[in-house]
Amino acid sequence: MDNNSVKDYINKIPKAELHLHIEGTFEPELMFKIADRNKIKIDYSSVEELRSAYNFNNLQEFLNIYYTGAKVLQTEQDFYDLTWAYLKKANEDNVIHTEIMFDPQTHTERGVAFDTVINGIHAALKDAEKDFGISSKLIMSFLRHLPQDSAFEIYENYFNHRDKIDVLGLDSSETGNPPTKFREVYNRAFGDGLKLTAHAGEEGPAEYVWEALDLLNVHRIDHGNRSLSDNKLIDRIVEKQIALTVCPLSNLKLRVIDDLKNHPLKIMLDRGIKATVNSDDPAYFGGYINENFIQTADALQLTINDINKLVKNSFEASFADDNRKIVMLNKLDEFGF
Ligand code: ADE
Ligand code: ZN
Repeated sequence: MDNNSVKDYINKIPKAELHLHIEGTFEPELMFKIADRNKIKIDYSSVEELRSAYNFNNLQEFLNIYYTGAKVLQTEQDFYDLTWAYLKKANEDNVIHTEIMFDPQTHTERGVAFDTVINGIHAALKDAEKDFGISSKLIMSFLRHLPQDSAFEIYENYFNHRDKIDVLGLDSSETGNPPTKFREVYNRAFGDGLKLTAHAGEEGPAEYVWEALDLLNVHRIDHGNRSLSDNKLIDRIVEKQIALTVCPLSNLKLRVIDDLKNHPLKIMLDRGIKATVNSDDPAYFGGYINENFIQTADALQLTINDINKLVKNSFEASFADDNRKIVMLNKLDEFGF
């Protein structure tokens, strides 16, 4: 199979995205447009200048610029426009199910109401279901550099928005902020029946993945690359079929890996890990989901079988209800090889 047919297969296959920060889809063009209408000054003079600042040596350097960009978002319409722009792109990439993280503390800490954020995002998700047939789940994520008390305060909002929030997540600066810091709030959410995920093993050690599994009771791990340094952990992940939501272009841009040719995705598949491909923060890392698949397939010589397996994993590991999962898996069967 030549590269062109793999690329064509990737572009057309129906797929799910399970690791996507909505604030990370904020393209510079939209950022300038929204800044203008909110009368906010951006530190960069043009879209080109802003984009040229997207060179990162590690996660923290990226996060600094990502939180600055998010400050432009103020109204429900801003959050709607941001989400809608992503969903249009996802539809072009043949995404039929998406699970979107949002970071409420990034917005409430600067005086934007929780309801403003969630209502804008949710309205766009509903429109995408109607217009494109894209189903979705919303993941409320805690910023791990803030104390657990702040997470508990944010968690209270869940009870007013149970119809919109399905999953809890944990993101931001990993090193020095282990999962155990959020043990009580995760236990509370587990008791309330929420689905759970957490970033672990992106820059942090395999130990953080163990903690996310053993102490937070997560159903999925976001990233999880560092799990490969611990054979016992691999056995556990494989045995329990814990999915890893892997983000190859993010890993490259944040220097988790030095070259896509050295990305562990193929090793994960070969070891029986339920790996999936996702875009993380596509506006900052140079590619949406199809681009992640295409560049990784090229670098690792992935076959159509590998692509099909990764997509199947994404449907199976999604938090969609069982009926929707069956529909998605049937679509994949019909699509074939
Ligand atoms: N927030 C947005 N993108 C992130 C990433 N890749 N890791 C941790 N927190 C994030
Ligand atoms: Zn992420």
